[in-house]
Amino acid sequence: MTIGARGERAVLPTYPARALAFTRGEGVHLYDEAGTRYLDLVAGLAVVSLGHAHPAPIEAFARQAAILGHVSNLYWTEPGVALAERLLDICEMDGGVFFCNSGAEANEAGIKLARRRGRARGGDGKHEIVCLENSFHGRTLGTLQATWARSKKEPFEPLPAGFRHVPANDRAALEAAVGPRTAGVLVEPIQGEGGVHPLEAAFLARARQLCDEHDAILICDEVQTGIGRCGAWLAGSLLGVRPDAVTLAKGLASGIPIGALVSARLEDSFAPGDHATTFGATPPVAAAALAVLDTIAADGLLANATTVGAHLVAGLSAIPGVAAVRGLGLLLAVELERGDAATVAARLAAERHVLVNAVSSSALRLCPPLCLAVAEADEAIAAVGSVLATG
Ligand SMILES: Cc1ncc(COP(=O)(O)O)c(C=O)c1O
Repeated sequence: MTIGARGERAVLPTYPARALAFTRGEGVHLYDEAGTRYLDLVAGLAVVSLGHAHPAPIEAFARQAAILGHVSNLYWTEPGVALAERLLDICEMDGGVFFCNSGAEANEAGIKLARRRGRARGGDGKHEIVCLENSFHGRTLGTLQATWARSKKEPFEPLPAGFRHVPANDRAALEAAVGPRTAGVLVEPIQGEGGVHPLEAAFLARARQLCDEHDAILICDEVQTGIGRCGAWLAGSLLGVRPDAVTLAKGLASGIPIGALVSARLEDSFAPGDHATTFGATPPVAAAALAVLDTIAADGLLANATTVGAHLVAGLSAIPGVAAVRGLGLLLAVELERGDAATVAARLAAERHVLVNAVSSSALRLCPPLCLAVAEADEAIAAVGSVLATG
């Protein structure tokens, strides 16, 4: 029986049908059961930042696991502390880091931080979280409520109260929503799952001002956009915003599960007992993340994401049938003039062995490893061109 056939019997069907199963990866390539090679522009959904089977995090993980694997957060360990210091550096913050295991958990921690602080400063009325339409923040009950899509929420209602949504880039709507009851404003600098839509710098600047005026915190969800994906450590820095807290996950350990809430120094922040998780920054995971950060810096991957991203934008924009290409660095969406994006993605995989995903009914998302070379970008451009030409 194939892996897929066994998966259909043994795994709960929370995901749409999967056409492919992979057995091996190397750099920007994946190999299926038959040994066919695919150019991977999905990268585990913006996770495998260094490419598949990169030795740096694997060796760092193995080295650390052989010395000290897990001790719980009752104790300090060197890798966890070193990673916290490094993330504070990257985020240019002097507060502290809470480690967890996923993007949703990082955002859940951010929401709890905002609420905890709001309650301490304004009583239980100061608990609202203002989010954006078209957002995606995760699938826990709290982050699901922060997420926009109604269809993802309805089966699980009632969800926590106190979340408001305003249209992205609508400054007047934001002004109307943020007030004394606001504990936090939660935004993705580029809305990833919502279709790769960057926020306007002026909107983010207004969000910053409103949070200051109303003693609320601004949280940037950089789970998808952070750690080099957009050509800088944080996409928010490209858009000129200085949040009070940043959430990270996906690319931070290039495929090893980790999440982090990085916070500026805040009055009425978390105190002992407020929040916890068993596996936060377990030493091998923290060591792997440090190796990822070192490799991104040493290999110039921020610059590579910028250069190769711009090359992809130029090449893809010139293809007949492409209406627009948007995004920053190596987080891009290709808006199609016509045709169903899911069908085009399936054809790219089947006919050209190029992996992308449909981020909306009309747009393809490209979020390849940050080490993608120009020649590989050209291969992707040629593949999209040929599939659209014969559609
Ligand atoms: C911006 C953003 N926030 C949060 C999440 C949730 O992360 P996770 O799936 O690791 O819980 C995602 C996942 O796609 C995301 O793109």
